[in-house]
Amino acid sequence: MDHFQLKDGVLHAEDLPLPAIAEAVGTPFYCYSAATLRRHARVMKEALSALDRPLIAFAVKANPNVAVLSLLAKEGLGADVVSEGEMLRALKAGIAPGRIVFSGVGKTDHELRAALDAGILQLNVESESELRRLSAIASGMGRTAEIALRVNPDVDAGTHAKISTGKAENKFGIPIDRVEALYAEASTLPGIRPAGIAAHIGSQLFDLAPMEAAFTKLGHLVGRLRGAGLSVTRVDLGGGLGIPYDPSLPLPPSPADYGAMVARVTTGWNVQLMFEPGRLIAGNAGILVARVITLKSGAARHFVVLDAAMNDLIRPTLYGVYHDIRAVVPRPGTMAATVVGPVCETGDMFAEDRRITPVEEGDLVALMTAGAYGATMASTYNSRPLVPEVLVDGDRMAVIRPRQTLEELVGLDRVPHWLKEGA
Ligand code: LLP
Repeated sequence: MDHFQLKDGVLHAEDLPLPAIAEAVGTPFYCYSAATLRRHARVMKEALSALDRPLIAFAVKANPNVAVLSLLAKEGLGADVVSEGEMLRALKAGIAPGRIVFSGVGKTDHELRAALDAGILQLNVESESELRRLSAIASGMGRTAEIALRVNPDVDAGTHAKISTGKAENKFGIPIDRVEALYAEASTLPGIRPAGIAAHIGSQLFDLAPMEAAFTKLGHLVGRLRGAGLSVTRVDLGGGLGIPYDPSLPLPPSPADYGAMVARVTTGWNVQLMFEPGRLIAGNAGILVARVITLKSGAARHFVVLDAAMNDLIRPTLYGVYHDIRAVVPRPGTMAATVVGPVCETGDMFAEDRRITPVEEGDLVALMTAGAYGATMASTYNSRPLVPEVLVDGDRMAVIRPRQTLEELVGLDRVPHWLKEGA
């Protein structure tokens, strides 16, 4: 459920009509709904309420805006970060270091040091070499790093290949059959305290079975580790639960279904469970609003050219995935349209030959479900400035990131003196 609804024939973000926001900030812009973010955080907490002290660490990569993180911090969420930049954002948002977990397949020495300096809860270690590097760095600093070993359980998540992470051929995690030996080694290394194990098998999962298969493997692993006399106090089950993008498709499993499965599979584990949802919290809480620049009839297709493009929202181009496209002030009927952006790439396409509500030049449209992996994956390709982000809360709105100016965009370039005129 989200709070982007039609009221008196105009699409609103909570209590505010989108045309008024467009008037204030220009187009394109990302718009987030605070009520939707809060609702998703609460739904997730409720779904996991049968568990003992679960830690829900929002996957910052999904939406790293510090205002969004601050809102989620107030809801009691922690953070799953994968870079020093994401860690800085989480800390800036007021998320306590003790609720931050650092994941990622290639953490630099600098990042390991920064994480230890910040005193975060846990580093999820992804390789033998990283473990040894961390041991050397932590002991050199006189610190102890609490770690989980990220396990690659070799389970097919059944999702898009580009967001699948738990198969043997993926770069993520430590092959499950090597984890016991490494965990035993970790418990003897200076500067390291192994707290548990972690897994994340993929994103946008529409089936609980692969997750259940992976979690079951983790449960057996916990048993084997304890059987070897090793202590396991935390298990991080990652994120990955899918959300609806295409209203014509069946719904994904609900957070409640997920929570019930987790409670059943983890009975008797006697650990603190951690979760890293990203999309589930932020996906439906954001939209990208754009204006129709041109209607153009090609020989084979009717094109709707928006002022937003693949650089603003890359998901359709990168994964070929569906985002619902809604007119902000819908007209009656439908039209067949290929909805594209102005970027000079054929792949700059939001929808191919799709029936949408009819639009005319100057109309506003909303690309739905863009709150996760939207603004954060944007680039400035074609020298298009990053678009603003707006947060709506009831009848209040705030620009939580202004539009990048052309001066900011171009002004970062430096021309060497030997190329300057007259040199
Ligand atoms: N934890 C780890 C270790 C992850 O790698 C990810 C996502 C998450 C948690 C959060 O997953 P979620 O709950 O959001 O599914 N750009 C892609 C998604 C990439 C996800 C990468 N890792 C997209 O737009 O679909």
